[in-house]
Amino acid sequence: MTKYRVLITAGPTQEAIDPVRYISNRSSGKMGYALAEVIQKAGHEVVLVSGPTCLPVPEDVRCRFVKSAEQMLDAVMHEVETVDVFISVAAVSDYRPKELLAQKHKKSGDSWTLELVKNPDILATVAALDNKPFCVGFAAETENIVEHGREKLIRKNIDMIAVNDVAAGDIGFDHQYNSLFVLGADMEVRIDRALKVEVAQQLWGLIYEQSTN
Ligand code: PMT
Repeated sequence: MTKYRVLITAGPTQEAIDPVRYISNRSSGKMGYALAEVIQKAGHEVVLVSGPTCLPVPEDVRCRFVKSAEQMLDAVMHEVETVDVFISVAAVSDYRPKELLAQKHKKSGDSWTLELVKNPDILATVAALDNKPFCVGFAAETENIVEHGREKLIRKNIDMIAVNDVAAGDIGFDHQYNSLFVLGADMEVRIDRALKVEVAQQLWGLIYEQSTN
């Protein structure tokens, strides 16, 4: 077995509005932490870059904690140079407030308009590196999940994407269970509903096989 160095992002990002408020995405971190645990137990070195979660860090996994997408990008770029595989499980906020208010915004009037600006795309940034690692993305979709997943695979120029059907109700965000369509240039594999740790084992099998080809 070739011992890999694997970088994983997990959890949501939080984009501060003022000292007491933020916008965020739905993600408990369970899928990313399950992958970190499974890959570390398989004998590889794992670095986890995690947004805020309530989960314990798996044993022997080095974790860098971040809050915002910009902090996540910074931590990933510090680690990525010597990495063989990058797995981007995090639910990164696509936008952040244009301005960070220094004081709590006071309630006044019936509405409040917030201007948002685009966050960097961490996965696409890594996939554009000259010496890029094998790049695996995730996608949470609610309809036409295979087509949307394949579109992201091509647009982000990545090697593989794992798509969850988050409209299915009892899988995906926060649940203990997940089910995935795993897509590559010439592959489409379904991983049936199972505990996230079991899904992670099957997914890691596919990533390892494809990245050593
Ligand atoms: O954490 P859990 O509760 O266990 O839930 C797991 C999950 C459902 C959050 C996870 O399996 C998942 O699907 N994560 C990706 C969520 C998503 O919708 O991603 P996206 O379609 O916005 O982005 C596609 C890919 O680009 C992802 O790999 C994402 O990490 C990456 N991305 C997106 C935006 C951005 N600015 N930077 C990125 O790197």
